[in-house]
Amino acid sequence: MISLNIEKTLGFISREKVFAYEPLVKEAQNALEKGTGKGNDFLGWLHLPSSITQEHLEDIKATAQVLRENCEVVIVAGIGGSYLGARAVIEALSNSFTWLQDKKSAPSIIYAGHNIGEDYLYELTHFLQDKKFGVINISKSGTTTETALAFRILKKQCEDQRGKEMAQKVIVAITDASKGAARVTADKEGYKSFIIPDNVGGRFSVLTPVGLLPIAVAGFNIDKLVAGAREAEKACGADVPFAENPAAIYAATRNELYKSGKKIEILVNFNPKLHYVSEWWKQLYGESEGKENKGIFPAAVDFSTDLHSMGQWIQEGERTIFETVISVEKTNHTVLVPSDEANLDGLNFLAGKRVDEVNKMAELGTQLAHVDGGVPNMRLCIADLSEQTIGELLYFFEVACGISGYLLGVNPFNQPGVEAYKKNMFALLNKPGYEEESKAIQSRL
Ligand code: PA5
Repeated sequence: MISLNIEKTLGFISREKVFAYEPLVKEAQNALEKGTGKGNDFLGWLHLPSSITQEHLEDIKATAQVLRENCEVVIVAGIGGSYLGARAVIEALSNSFTWLQDKKSAPSIIYAGHNIGEDYLYELTHFLQDKKFGVINISKSGTTTETALAFRILKKQCEDQRGKEMAQKVIVAITDASKGAARVTADKEGYKSFIIPDNVGGRFSVLTPVGLLPIAVAGFNIDKLVAGAREAEKACGADVPFAENPAAIYAATRNELYKSGKKIEILVNFNPKLHYVSEWWKQLYGESEGKENKGIFPAAVDFSTDLHSMGQWIQEGERTIFETVISVEKTNHTVLVPSDEANLDGLNFLAGKRVDEVNKMAELGTQLAHVDGGVPNMRLCIADLSEQTIGELLYFFEVACGISGYLLGVNPFNQPGVEAYKKNMFALLNKPGYEEESKAIQSRL
């Protein structure tokens, strides 16, 4: 199971102050368990791992199999919580070079509907021209412009290219039970569809079909992912004593650091496969906590790559940051540094060592340097990169986010601020129903 080490924050905040959060954390946990806190209609994720039935998992796997048998490429159309969880898991577990190989054991997963880039869509539709492709259309509201726009284009292309009957087989919708355009289209076209429960918000939905279906299509074991999340549900439960509960300690420590003036949390990894786990985490914490003019700003870096860019800022820039490092104990493969008689590069001191040993020393050296430079450092250890450990990590972050949001005093389950840009965009595009806003915005230009 995940372990959290906060020792290297204790030169900046005291253990006593962190442990003083115990009653507040208890209160937050009770509010989550009893549904008495803010946003309590969105708590379906809290005991989701233990309530997922095998029948549901089999349904997802059977649907994934249809896509795997009929598609070379599957497009996951979604934005925010409707794609980041799937991408985080798929990229963490995939071979970094599979996408370049000709023979693949699973369809390639490509993402769309998470931007409005015309060139992106042009290049995507061209890439798909000679491909047998399918689409998983994911939108809880069913009305998100980015996703709906991409889906309109992809649906037409899929029908034109593969015929209406095959398109019906290889397009799957994951959306609300009854509301929204995605539901209307799915029902009218007869697509296989899955429901996103009302009480699970987008960024907490990775363990619903939103995440599980794309992950299963990519060939990963969703039983093990859910098993990992179940382990974390136990280890981070409200009945686990504060001192032994990594989610409680993480939530308390980051809030105490925030109070002490550390306004930015940088999630660090030393494994490039975790890049999208960080993207998912940024969304989870940014959208959950950044409101009412408060909230830790969630940032992320991939080390050692970014030590040669952001490393300078982290070491010597404004002292308003702290780091949370995801440390992966064991790699899945072994590469030894070869010995070289000529030793022209002077690297023989590393000969015979594992590359991961070098990486681990980079990690340790960086931790010590950053702490010396005034950056508190938490270390979150996972055993390896596997379905089980990623499942643990995702649930750990979710429950810690719920607790942390309540400690901060905000509703971690809404996102009112996301509407502001949409209102302006619709007004500028003269969307029906936005006539007043259109007039008002035009006068500002
Ligand atoms: O966490 C959230 O609720 C958001 O990030 C949503 O997932 C995102 O805005 C996409 O919404 P929808 O699934 O309704 O298209």
